[in-house]
Amino acid sequence: MATAPKEINQPAPEVLLRVENVTKIYDGTVKAVDDVSLTVNKGEIFALLGGSGCGKSTLLRMMAGFETPTKGKIHLAGQDITNLPPYQRPINMMFQSYALFPHLSVWENIAFGLKRDGMPKGQIAERVEKMLNLAQLGKFAQRKPHQLSGGQQQRVALVRSLAKRPQLLLLDEPLGALDKKLRETTQLELVNIIEEVGVTCVLVTHDQEEAMTMASRIAVMSEGYFLQVGEPDTVYEMPNSRKVADFIGNVNIFDGVIEEDEADHVTVRCPECVHYVGHGVSGHTGMEVGVALRPEKIMLSDKKPKGEYNWCQGEVIEIVYFGAHTTYHLKLDSGKVIKAQELNNTRDLSCGLTWGDRAYAHWNDLAMVVLAQ
Ligand SMILES: Nc1ncnc2c1ncn2[C@@H]1O[C@H](COP(=O)(O)OP(=O)(O)OP(=O)(O)O)[C@@H](O)[C@H]1O
Ligand SMILES: [Mg+2]
Repeated sequence: MATAPKEINQPAPEVLLRVENVTKIYDGTVKAVDDVSLTVNKGEIFALLGGSGCGKSTLLRMMAGFETPTKGKIHLAGQDITNLPPYQRPINMMFQSYALFPHLSVWENIAFGLKRDGMPKGQIAERVEKMLNLAQLGKFAQRKPHQLSGGQQQRVALVRSLAKRPQLLLLDEPLGALDKKLRETTQLELVNIIEEVGVTCVLVTHDQEEAMTMASRIAVMSEGYFLQVGEPDTVYEMPNSRKVADFIGNVNIFDGVIEEDEADHVTVRCPECVHYVGHGVSGHTGMEVGVALRPEKIMLSDKKPKGEYNWCQGEVIEIVYFGAHTTYHLKLDSGKVIKAQELNNTRDLSCGLTWGDRAYAHWNDLAMVVLAQ
């Protein structure tokens, strides 16, 4: 996660981008973005995360000026830019399917926009060198894009969009074309480059791990609106709805009813078990809720846990080995299947359970989140 350590008495963050009640309706019928408001602080990397077609690119294109909002306003550094054409905005956008100029060298690709803006030659050379160093591409300056790896091309595209020193950088699926391993290393390199230049960035991705690794805050989007906006750990550990819990990572959700509602704990009765949640929730006795429990917070054992709360039992019906961890699928007596993830931190495969075994799953009283919707 790319958040800076929190300091006491930190100065209030300076807002760079303000999106106010923005709606975009295409062709009079397709509501791609539905009354979205957000602020992005100076220096922040902000991620728009959501499934295909939820309106991420549309929102980004409105920030860049390639689309005009049907309703609402966009401000940059206090100025209303809602109707300003793209070339008059101090903003640069790297598109979902970015393209380097294939016939130009890396050096010329980076210099292209600066030349077009009429920057003096000496300054261009200085700026391009700086960008090449930043992306550790110095030795590739004279190569053509097809002579580079996918990750190297990606870095050229990024520093090309940074060369003009935009106030705001918009990245639409910047790593979409890379395979998983290269994606992971490139994610961190991109964050380092963006932070070094000190630019503010809005990043679009449908990959939740990418959003968590790169962004200081995430907006989870669905059907044109924001479900939740928060820091990566908040969105993961305290999702505000089933949709967010489900979209971010793996989750087991138990349906139940609040039985005891106290300031310091609640209990939720479900067909499979009774959850004892070690903090108060906003709800009331008799209310129907979902209890979200992440697989990595569940422990498995062949011995019956003590007490009456926070455990259930079932049969191991599937074991999926991922290397660093193993996921066990447990079919409970109610027929519900839950997933439990065990770390493989020793060579002997941890809990010794195998297909068809009966097992107990248990968790502690701060492991779950109670969801009203
Ligand atoms: N120019 C357009 N004209 C009409 N409808 C459009 C246009 N562009 C996008 N849409 C529609 O608006 C909705 C949002 O599209 P958008 O491209 O913003 O989604 P997205 O979240 O970026 O998806 P993906 O992850 O697939 O890139 C979709 O239903 C899409 O079909
Ligand atoms: Mg898109």
